[in-house]
Parts: sequence; structure tokens; C-alpha cells
Amino acid sequence: MADPVRPLIAGNWKMNGTSAELPELKRIADGVEGTRSDSPYDALICVPATLVDRAVRTVVGSPLAVGGQDCHGEENGAHTGDISAAMLADAGATHVIVGHSERRADHGETDIDVMGKALAAHAQGLTAIVCVGETRQEREDGRAMDVVDTQLAGSLPEHATPQTTVIAYEPVWAIGTGLTPSLHDIEAMHDHMRDRLRERFGTAGALFRLLYGGSVKPANAGEIFGISSVDGALIGGASLKSDDFLAICAAMPAR
Ligand code: PGA
Repeated sequence: MADPVRPLIAGNWKMNGTSAELPELKRIADGVEGTRSDSPYDALICVPATLVDRAVRTVVGSPLAVGGQDCHGEENGAHTGDISAAMLADAGATHVIVGHSERRADHGETDIDVMGKALAAHAQGLTAIVCVGETRQEREDGRAMDVVDTQLAGSLPEHATPQTTVIAYEPVWAIGTGLTPSLHDIEAMHDHMRDRLRERFGTAGALFRLLYGGSVKPANAGEIFGISSVDGALIGGASLKSDDFLAICAAMPAR
């Protein structure tokens, strides 16, 4: 049976983007707008925190949503340099990525931290995009599914729902490397995650959006989106160029 979930195509600009890139964001918004009548997906770009407010104003009136890339687990307080979920929501963000592997690696974020961030996001009405994924060594050791199980169990709040939470499977070794798992391996992992979600969340477990991330580009998006258990993508490098991002969007088949 076809997966009933409406896909999400999300860009992650990472530490890229100043006001000079706002016209590129506008081109993405206009391009998504152009397909609005029958568009089979939702679209989102997660910009640096400094750009959220201006990005929201740049895309206003278009179907493109704007998100942040991280938030602190606390509501406010003495955390110099951090950004709270309330700040992102106040700036107009509707989504926030939490637990990206670059945050886990660069800042030592644990599953408990990630769960706290997801809870903080939910408290502000933001959709949390919770990232999971194994390293190359973990895949070579045959532990990819166990690692992802542990991350899912530890990072997803108990009250997570398909409306408040999106899951992105991003093998660490595929991020920014041009490497991707085989279609079979992506499908096997997504089916596996779907089973775990059903076990934990019952019928709602079937409705969480499961994004694939890691070197998605126009050349491979169509075949990745052809996997029925893939409900969209989280895209780094290829989301920086409107032509590439829109070509990926165009590869999303109607469901
Ligand atoms: P990439 O990044 O598309 O540049 O591999 C994906 C991500 O980190 O979200």
C-alpha cells in the first residue's frame, strides 16, 4: 500500500547564508509557488538563525516554510550564544532541526539533549526535525539499525506526534561526501524505522514523515523518492542553489 504521508522537502543551509543569499531563497520560494496548485509536497528551508526573520519576510505569501537549525533545550536563561525555540518561533520559524550529526559531533549533543531540544521546540509550536544516522564504522560493523534504534528511542519524546515531529535518517558518512547508501539500504532502514515507530506510537507511527538525508541531488532525488517509505529529503549542499533545490522538488512524484 502506498505510504499515506505527505512528503516534506527540507533544505539545511548549515553555516551558509547572509543577506546576499536572500534573492536565492526568493527564487526557491517562487519556484515552489509555481507548482503550488498540484504540488505533492511541502517545502522548507532551514536557514542560519541570523537570517530567520528576514527569510520569513522574503518568502511571505509563498508555500515555502522557514526553519532554524538548532535550539536550546531550555526556554531561556544564561546560555551565551544559544538560541531558544521561542526566539525561532518569534522570528517566524515553523520548524527546527534538532540532533543533526554535525551538532552531535561538534557539540557533543547526546540523545537526551536532543530530546530536550525537541520538547522545547514542541512547547513553542515548532515542528522538530529529529536527525538520526550511523557512522561508516557503525555500518561496516553491521550495527546501523541498532544505532538508529537507540537514537530514535532516546531522542524522540514520548508525546511526539506526526504533526509535531519529523524524522530524518542521515547516515553520517553520506553527508556532504557525494556518497549515498544503496536504494535497498535506504529502503531497509526506512522500513525498519517505520516498524519501530509503529511499535512505540501505534497507528500514529505509520504517519511520521521519514526523510532521507545525505548527498541528495537532482541526479539521485527521483530514485530516492521512488522508495515508498521515503517521505521526502533533508538536503544540505544542494539546497543552497535554487536550481538544484527546485530540480529535487520536481523529482517528487505525485502519491
Ligand atoms: P548534504 O547534507 O546534502 O550536503 O549531504 C545533508 C545534511 O546534512 O542535512
